[in-house]
Amino acid sequence: MRALVFNRTSEITNAPQLTRNRARCCLNGVGIQSSSVTPKFYSLSRIQEFAPPRDVESVSAATLTSEDFRRNFIDKFRPCRIVGALEHWPAMRLWKSDEYLIGRVGKEKEVAVSTSPLFESPNEEQLKHNLGSYLKMSFGDFMERASAPGSGHTVLYSHRVSEPNGYETKFANAHPLAPRHVEPDLRELFPDVDGFPFLADARPSLRYPAYRAFVFRNAFTDWHFHPMDDALMCQVDGAKEVLLTPPDEKSHALLSGLTKEYGGTFTKDVASRFAGAEIYRAVVNPGDALYIPVYWWHAVEALEDRRGITIAATFRTPMAISGDLRYPAARELVKSLFATSETGIAGALTKLRAGGVVAGAVTLSHLHRARQALKR
Ligand SMILES: [Fe+2]
Repeated sequence: MRALVFNRTSEITNAPQLTRNRARCCLNGVGIQSSSVTPKFYSLSRIQEFAPPRDVESVSAATLTSEDFRRNFIDKFRPCRIVGALEHWPAMRLWKSDEYLIGRVGKEKEVAVSTSPLFESPNEEQLKHNLGSYLKMSFGDFMERASAPGSGHTVLYSHRVSEPNGYETKFANAHPLAPRHVEPDLRELFPDVDGFPFLADARPSLRYPAYRAFVFRNAFTDWHFHPMDDALMCQVDGAKEVLLTPPDEKSHALLSGLTKEYGGTFTKDVASRFAGAEIYRAVVNPGDALYIPVYWWHAVEALEDRRGITIAATFRTPMAISGDLRYPAARELVKSLFATSETGIAGALTKLRAGGVVAGAVTLSHLHRARQALKR
């Protein structure tokens, strides 16, 4: 894996700022308004009517040191938008061209394209329905579709750009935390991405590949959180809007309740349920990266009807955070490992260690006590 270290030589420039002129709509027809922008199937702006968001803190990559990033954001478990984080990547210049991308990846390479909003659900039937909306097609056909106005939701979702990591290879689809299906890769694009000057001391991610690509038109990803690893949502092309909520009891109850009730929330008029919720918002422009810590719930929507590209870069969460059972998502993770371990508590311990949730120094007796505590 490429080290997440880079000595930048290029200058940071200001990424273009978008004027927000949004349509409001959702699939059941509630709240539809006219707009000069193509209406979206769902809009995060309705939620903002009920829960006015705070801005995610912004920092400049030009002045952000690794020490400051770790001390002020990673260790404090706080998201931030890092302006100009990937201005030095060759991808910023090269991926504007469809011809370049097709030449690099290959016109005939098969990819899996999602044609409906993405969601993760505890309900297997809903999840099957979601996965069933994938179309296999050639990369050339996908690019043609993604470049055409009016194509609707067209997303080449989570295609690995870097090599598979050890955890992914070891557990594959047999593990409840592993990706539910193995996507085709886009490893041909790896030479065009680079590291981050403010992440000199990052450790490799555990669950996710170091770099994954999302090539999209009109993308919407419903509320979810990452059960492992910290993420940098890197906008190479096109802008996205992200709403986030802290992984506390109140937010977790609201969002895990909604996903259990509905699966994907994008077809439901659920905005009023967010009244009083603590919401943070960021618009991530080309060249910027959004730091999304583990367990933070978030929903993501493309801001414009055009082809865009996101790279998700991931790195390891500090164990002091991933293993902190005060967070409901951490408790669910530990419970799921207990529940699915065929070899009892010893097997769960192996998985918890492999997942970076507990240190090697944690013993079976620690885990017995944790299991008793979780039962209460
Ligand atoms: Fe995510």
